Amino acid sequence: MVGREAGRFITFEGIDGAGKSSHIDSLAAAFRRQGKTVTVTREPGGTPLAEKLRTLLLNDSMDPLTESLLVFAGRRDHLRCVIEPALARGEIVLCDRFTDATFAYQGGGRGFDVKVLSILERITQVNIALGPEKIRDPDLTLWFDLAPEMAAARLADARTPDRFESQPVEFFRRVRQGYADRELAASQRFVRLDAGHTRDAVWSQLVGALVKRGWLSAESADMAAEKTS
Ligand code: TMP
Repeated sequence: MVGREAGRFITFEGIDGAGKSSHIDSLAAAFRRQGKTVTVTREPGGTPLAEKLRTLLLNDSMDPLTESLLVFAGRRDHLRCVIEPALARGEIVLCDRFTDATFAYQGGGRGFDVKVLSILERITQVNIALGPEKIRDPDLTLWFDLAPEMAAARLADARTPDRFESQPVEFFRRVRQGYADRELAASQRFVRLDAGHTRDAVWSQLVGALVKRGWLSAESADMAAEKTS
């Protein structure tokens, strides 16, 4: 019997205003052109329960431990109900933020203890199918890296800012450093995209990374970009 093709778990990361979200639909379209089934999802959120937690996280005042516990509680539900089943079906999962955001925002931005975050990560993401020692990590993380000053300028005209978007530039400097630390610790799954360029130039970097891995044909990527731009 021919085995089912393995699913792929791809996450999108970066500080608010880095422009990651506009590329997710284009990448989903590119994979679908290749006949893949794609699940597009996000964190905080992705399930009815986790979306309720998202509303609390973005609006209610709380301390960094409470914030971290809520983020991981939502992640647990999201993994169980959406991410793991989609990967088991052999789908591509494109997730707008995942655990690197917790290390960057709660660890870097809020200054919360990353050792505690590592424990919560292990408890939440333990993967029975892979063995109790293994945790569910993304197969690839696309990090849209942008100077916080540029991101702030891009967000200036945006909708009413939430609890995170309204933080000062200094907070986002720490968040960016949090992402840089995660990249250093897991460089094999991280691709840093220079998000300070035009949308087309960032898309080219993104496509280059996927074509290099043999996951995407350049032709499907070109057609998807034309349809969604
Ligand atoms: P979004 O605007 O990209 O959907 O994300 C909502 C906010 O949630 C964003 O400012 C980053 C924040 N966040 C955390 O603080 N910790 C996390 O673990 C995640 C996933 C997001």
